[in-house]
Amino acid sequence: MSAAAPLRDPPPLHGVPLREHVGLLLDSRRRGYALPGAFFRDEALFAADLELIFGRHWLFVASEPELPEGGDYRTYDIGPYPIFLLRRDDGSIVAFHNTCRHRGTRILQQPAGVVGANLVCPYHRWVYDEAGRLIGCGASELSAPMMGLRLKPVHVKRLAGLIFVCLATDPPEDFDAMAAQMEPYLAPHAVPRTRVAKQIDLIEQANWKLTIENNRECFHCAGHPELSRSLFDFFGEIHEESLSAEERAAYQCFQTARQDAMAGWQRAGLPWQLIEKLHGRPTGFRTDRLVLNGAGESMTLDTRSASSRLLGKFTDARLGSLHFHVQPNAWFHFLADHVVTFATLPLAAGRTLVRTTWLVDAEAQEGRDYDLDNLTRIWVETNRQDATLVEEAQRGVASPAYEPGPLVASEFMVGMFHSWYEERLRAALDL
Ligand code: FES
Ligand SMILES: [Fe+2]
Repeated sequence: MSAAAPLRDPPPLHGVPLREHVGLLLDSRRRGYALPGAFFRDEALFAADLELIFGRHWLFVASEPELPEGGDYRTYDIGPYPIFLLRRDDGSIVAFHNTCRHRGTRILQQPAGVVGANLVCPYHRWVYDEAGRLIGCGASELSAPMMGLRLKPVHVKRLAGLIFVCLATDPPEDFDAMAAQMEPYLAPHAVPRTRVAKQIDLIEQANWKLTIENNRECFHCAGHPELSRSLFDFFGEIHEESLSAEERAAYQCFQTARQDAMAGWQRAGLPWQLIEKLHGRPTGFRTDRLVLNGAGESMTLDTRSASSRLLGKFTDARLGSLHFHVQPNAWFHFLADHVVTFATLPLAAGRTLVRTTWLVDAEAQEGRDYDLDNLTRIWVETNRQDATLVEEAQRGVASPAYEPGPLVASEFMVGMFHSWYEERLRAALDL
């Protein structure tokens, strides 16, 4: 695989090599400030993002219920790399580069589907087994140069029902340490025993970094009236003395709800302590169990459970929302009654795919146990609002008049994302 190899043929940048070009861009960023406009538009930096960020880090691509049966596959484009995930008949999940070892055609050409015992390239009908080995080539026998050919594998890791892939030859080794910390938080939500209630792809006309930055702060959450029904608007360090009388009353209400919720989490044996490792390591991640407002049950308009069948062995619906974020491309909300996963993949410097998936208990039936509109409403609306926010940001940062402004305290995670991004590019380019 070439993903971890040095960048090939750096694009000519008026004679400046890519390494130097990226170094100059990183040097131009001011800590504690928004990123310079080039970070969202520059084609050479975008190529570096694909190769060095998306090509070398663990990416969340699907959850296990998206491939429920042996033979199920799903295809993805990670920048220029078409890949596919395949559930084998023994239940294991493998990933391969979706590029035939003959003349390169994509072997699996639909977004998702089912294969038989073997994979057959539709071009000249070369046949591969579930382990990716070439076992046939149409009418003729395998010739000597064909012997031993196999599809190039892609690394796969599973974490409590979430599937991550890494294109690098040597993936970051810190995934297992993250998994060990996260498993006790995630496993009780029993993702392998859920099914997909809905999946929606949204394409944002914005750079992927704007999508992630936007996700890392709720400074803009006044623009989310539906989401705001279930979320308390208190993030990071709160200085009570700086709050208005009205805000202080709301803060006290939040504190009381949080004390109650923590007692409930304790009783249920659910971990809730914040883990914040968003930079200083290749696999940046963060988790936090948030108390919810109102009835405190779920992220719905009435803040009550969307599904009457709770996940796993839960008996209490008021478990708050366990937030989990993994850099560079995913975030999750784990509730008592459903899970929402979000995966982003860059399509171009100014285009980003955001895939949202709602998971409910495998036995839950639409109409009987949940109403699909009620289940999905908050994030359908919130995603639409966020798409507009980041698209307007993309337009604004394209202006020659744009100058990065200072981040505020509640945007601390945006700052951490910037630190991680800079660290990863400097490490990859030895800058
Ligand atoms: S390209 Fe796949 S069989 Fe020829
Ligand atoms: Fe938002």
